[in-house]
Amino acid sequence: MEIRQEIKRRAADIEARIAPFLPQEKGFQQTVLDAMEYSVFAGGKRLRPMLMEASYQMFDGTNPAIDDFMAAIEMIHTYSLIHDDLPAMDDDDLRRGKPSNHKAFDEATAILAGDGLLTDAFMVMCRTPEAPDRVLEAVSTLALAAGSSGMVGGQEWDMIYTGAASITLEQMRTVHAMKTGALLRASCLCGAILAGAEQPAREAISAYGAALGVAFQIADDILDVVSDTETLGKPAGSDEEQGKSTYPALLGLEKSRELAREQAQAAQNALACFDGQEADFLRALADYTVNRAA
Ligand code: IPE
Ligand code: IPE
Ligand code: MG
Ligand code: MG
Ligand code: MG
Repeated sequence: MEIRQEIKRRAADIEARIAPFLPQEKGFQQTVLDAMEYSVFAGGKRLRPMLMEASYQMFDGTNPAIDDFMAAIEMIHTYSLIHDDLPAMDDDDLRRGKPSNHKAFDEATAILAGDGLLTDAFMVMCRTPEAPDRVLEAVSTLALAAGSSGMVGGQEWDMIYTGAASITLEQMRTVHAMKTGALLRASCLCGAILAGAEQPAREAISAYGAALGVAFQIADDILDVVSDTETLGKPAGSDEEQGKSTYPALLGLEKSRELAREQAQAAQNALACFDGQEADFLRALADYTVNRAA
């Protein structure tokens, strides 16, 4: 099957499977729960749970039920998008083809919806019906990646380098690795941990995820310049408007494309030790990451 169709099919399947993990009972806190649901189901490529499941299956994870963990990582990712769009951060009014959370609701609700998704995600992932020692290790791996040493830390650096501050290539590499790479790497690594993969295999999948993460963010920065709002489902040209430090701003489009391809190749090279078909989907995802339209 053509890779884009396969990705679409998996995304739709994942979307249906993660739906039951959002809080179902809506009492007096109905508004914040509506806001959480609104952003999770506004669309999205579901790349993080897709990577997690592909990695879990590659390592012969046999339990069909890591759906909890997959839902949790999508909840954390969605929280990061809601907060990323707030006026105090990137100030973007469109996300996943719909008004951003703070536009559809209000700023206070958007902040709380993010808080709710992040916190509830930990409850959801702790209930994953895999071996408890694996679940515990995967929870701490994901927390490390999403928190101040990973995504949150990277978002802070992103804000520091927005506007006046100049940035070196090395610093930008670090910001990308933290704000985006950490969660994508953790998606892959948690799949391996939950499947009980051995250390060398974990290192390989980690290296894949880290390189894929950087390729993904370079592609995101390129798309912000070359694509349009309708295709992206978020405002094109936002980075330049905000004075973001991006690869295209620092190096130009051609060099950025080259670096994205290099990183995608590095991701594929990291999987060289899996010479059967088991890694084919992950290899194809590395290509898709840099060739995608949105
Ligand atoms: C957007 O992530 C934020 C970045 C890390 C660049 P995605 O491009 O995966 O967003 P969705 O989930 O498909 O909306
Ligand atoms: C955001 O990077 C990374 C996150 C952790 C949310 P961007 O700010 O470039 O993401 P988009 O372009 O708004 O999706
Ligand atoms: Mg941002
Ligand atoms: Mg943004
Ligand atoms: Mg962007």
